[in-house]
Amino acid sequence: MERVFKFPKDFLWGTATSAYQVEGKNDFCDWSDCYPAGLACDHYHKFREDFSIIKKMGHNAHRISIEWSRIEPKKGKFNKKEIEHYREVLKALKRSKIKIFLTLFHFTLPKWVAQSGGFLNKENVFHFINFSNRIFDEYKELVDFWVVLNEPEVYTLLSYLLKRWPPKKRNPFQYLKTKRNLLLAHKIIYRDFHKKGKKVLVGIAKNNSFFAPYNSKSLFDRLSAKIAKRWQNHYFLNRIKNEIDFIGLNYYFTSNIKFPMRMINESRDVSDLGWAINPEGIYHVLKDLKKYKKPIFITENGLADKKDKLRKEFIKNHLFWIWGAIKEGVDIKGYLHWSLMDNFEWDLGFDPRFGLIEIDCKTLERKPRKSASFYSEICKNNCLTIK
Ligand code: BGC
Repeated sequence: MERVFKFPKDFLWGTATSAYQVEGKNDFCDWSDCYPAGLACDHYHKFREDFSIIKKMGHNAHRISIEWSRIEPKKGKFNKKEIEHYREVLKALKRSKIKIFLTLFHFTLPKWVAQSGGFLNKENVFHFINFSNRIFDEYKELVDFWVVLNEPEVYTLLSYLLKRWPPKKRNPFQYLKTKRNLLLAHKIIYRDFHKKGKKVLVGIAKNNSFFAPYNSKSLFDRLSAKIAKRWQNHYFLNRIKNEIDFIGLNYYFTSNIKFPMRMINESRDVSDLGWAINPEGIYHVLKDLKKYKKPIFITENGLADKKDKLRKEFIKNHLFWIWGAIKEGVDIKGYLHWSLMDNFEWDLGFDPRFGLIEIDCKTLERKPRKSASFYSEICKNNCLTIK
């Protein structure tokens, strides 16, 4: 029996990327020395080709980030050529009638910012606010949705506690301070943008995981899962709930928590990175976000799956649960798959393959995977059909 799951009118469908992961040839940011991305996908030059693929696939939305280190490679010196480059990028999307989500901070910092303490240093918070305002003034006519920060929790955790990402620190005080400074940046930018325009939509891309107790009969595991959920999913959101017009949800996996705070993954359903696939988790996370009474866009959801064996099912099952949450009154307005194409997966390099489109690392040729055409049908029809 065929079942058809219709999505609301004007639902947005598309994909997401971030500048450093796809553009290539960036020597100006803090990642370039420790984790050089080389040419990446050369999206910097091939953006027109990439956007024409998006258009053909029937997407009507796309999320990109803007690279602060290109725009302001030296303190106070804005690079006009790069400002014009991004104007071309945004205009190309606009011409194709694709709604634009623009992220202002997606994990990378100009070297001069990183060298003076990154977001740990309050002065840099104000440099970021200044940069963001400049970007707003330049592109306000082109951008539909402003995403100020991408995943502040992931960034602070990996950069200031787990020593994985620049500046590779393990310092709880710096971790907390950076988080507080990012909160401050978000709040000021929200107010600044709203002072400048009435219809401006400002939000966040927030990674929320589904935290489940490892053993649901254990009071301690239940308590640990609750604490993890409060801290990871709600600490930031609670503090900016009056300064967001929408919530962007990045959902990847379920975390089974064992007391005191260990993540146990015994699932057999895993991506190439070993992340536990649990489509139902997105439903619980979405229901849990309902209390903020804001429109929600899924700003990232996807998996590393080089052979494209699981992606189609992954998309289908997640959309099924998203549809379920919509039916139960959660105001979900769009879905952006991570990612449009294989790209530079931060400290893990090019191995994890998250793309609907395969990138040949040598020739940079773009080859849409089978899952891309499956997703394309959903986008074109605004509905999911399960046979
Ligand atoms: C980030 C992306 C990243 C993806 C997959 C998200 O945490 O926003 O930049 O590539 O997850 O790991």
